[in-house]
Amino acid sequence: MNKTLKMKTLVCLALVGCGVQGTSPEAMISVDRPYTEMHRPQVHFSPQSQWLNDPNGLVFFDGEYHLFYQHNPDSNVWGPMHWGHAVSSDLVRWRHLPIALYPDILGTIFSGSAVVDWNNTTGFGKTEIPPMVAIFTHHNHLSRERGDINYQNQSLAYSLDNGRNWQKYDGNPVLDNPGIEDFRDPKVSWHEDFDQWTMVLAVKDHVNIYSSNDLKNWELQSEFGREIGAHGGVWECPDLFKLADDSGAEKWVMLVSINPGGPQGGSATQYFIGDFDGTTFIPDSDAHAWIDYGADNYAGVTFSDIPNEDGRRIFIGWMSNWQYANVVPTINWRNGMTIPRELSLVNSEKGGLLLKSRPVQELSNASKERLTFGVEDAMINLKQDYFSLDIRNIEGELSLSLVNDEEESVNIILRSDSIIVDRTQAGISTFSEVFAATHKAPLFSSKVEKLEVLVDACSIEVFVNDGETVMTELLFPSSPYNTLSVNGRFENGSIAYLHAIW
Ligand code: FRU
Repeated sequence: MNKTLKMKTLVCLALVGCGVQGTSPEAMISVDRPYTEMHRPQVHFSPQSQWLNDPNGLVFFDGEYHLFYQHNPDSNVWGPMHWGHAVSSDLVRWRHLPIALYPDILGTIFSGSAVVDWNNTTGFGKTEIPPMVAIFTHHNHLSRERGDINYQNQSLAYSLDNGRNWQKYDGNPVLDNPGIEDFRDPKVSWHEDFDQWTMVLAVKDHVNIYSSNDLKNWELQSEFGREIGAHGGVWECPDLFKLADDSGAEKWVMLVSINPGGPQGGSATQYFIGDFDGTTFIPDSDAHAWIDYGADNYAGVTFSDIPNEDGRRIFIGWMSNWQYANVVPTINWRNGMTIPRELSLVNSEKGGLLLKSRPVQELSNASKERLTFGVEDAMINLKQDYFSLDIRNIEGELSLSLVNDEEESVNIILRSDSIIVDRTQAGISTFSEVFAATHKAPLFSSKVEKLEVLVDACSIEVFVNDGETVMTELLFPSSPYNTLSVNGRFENGSIAYLHAIW
């Protein structure tokens, strides 16, 4: 970043901190942006500065998508958690807003969700103004340091002005810890079918399901998952939602993040498909699957209150892995989000019913120039290191390489039944012993009709057949990749160069 820009940014942030009169903090925060650093994502959300982990409180209200996130504003490593905040009207370009939730006497603010309380069940609203309610974990580190085990409890905060100002509920916490160390990450939804609020909560090695009429009083209904699914680590950040499959049948999907124990080591998100009757989730089978087979998609959850006329189930994950999130080689900021993805359920050729995820269609609005290439091997000099690649109807094996002037490269190899991302030579990797690795994922169809790869300054996201198989991987090349080679046979290929979103 150039010096003047940095100065301006600092001045701006300082003024915001002092609550300068006359100019709204919002306006000031969006003036100058430090978005020119090496490895800085150009089409993905990342914090203006300092540390970010899980997406929180994903909610749509009054024309805006709200993205809150785990944030340490004082350091580029994990620490006392706040909820950072940004809004977007199209899921692609984000506007930073001031921090929404600060730590208080009950603790720091861990992960959670947000909903619009349309019927004012909480009584927090006013006539004509439904409250936006955040349900989050208060993490009391002092109590933990004293040796207590009940230091995580669930609390509420609400906003009556489109998420700009937040009031903590004076009856917090609303769900007390029953004496268990890992008791966090409430994801709340209004379930019309049952006329109730449902909360799924991560409890060490399983999910508790609670219900409520007013978000303040919660009753435990059932537990899920002690005996099934992956159990290589602690369960975190669950989500439970209804989705129709491609035959129109309605199913329920339970997402559960786990750390460690993912398919590539460390963090990952598993899912289960089944039925939910308002109290109990019954999976169709004991088998679990992974929403993403790459190393870098964790703690992802879906938006609440997407209007019925839109009807999509939209997901955002944290694009990192606890194995190295604190030490990746960025300084001004650390970590970002995956591209927002639309989820769908399909009956696949080889994998039964699958949860697919593909980039939201709004991303195509960010494309500024499209270049098509032939039906066979191609070598392309790249104009910039953020673009989306699309290859159709692939015959047999295919390999893709992104290479830079340092001869660092990341390679993607498509075989008949698997896809491999090799980042062993992709660039800087000395920050972690496990980063430089080859990762493999299964394919669920015999034919690859579409391979989509979204490349940004420090990441690739690979979507096979609109997301039957997905791999999200971070990369830290010493200089931007500037050549793409494609080897294989296919019907057509194209690159869409994207507009930077900041
Ligand atoms: C997941 C997680 C959550 C917790 C938050 C703390 O990455 O560990 O379980 O609420 O991060 O920042």
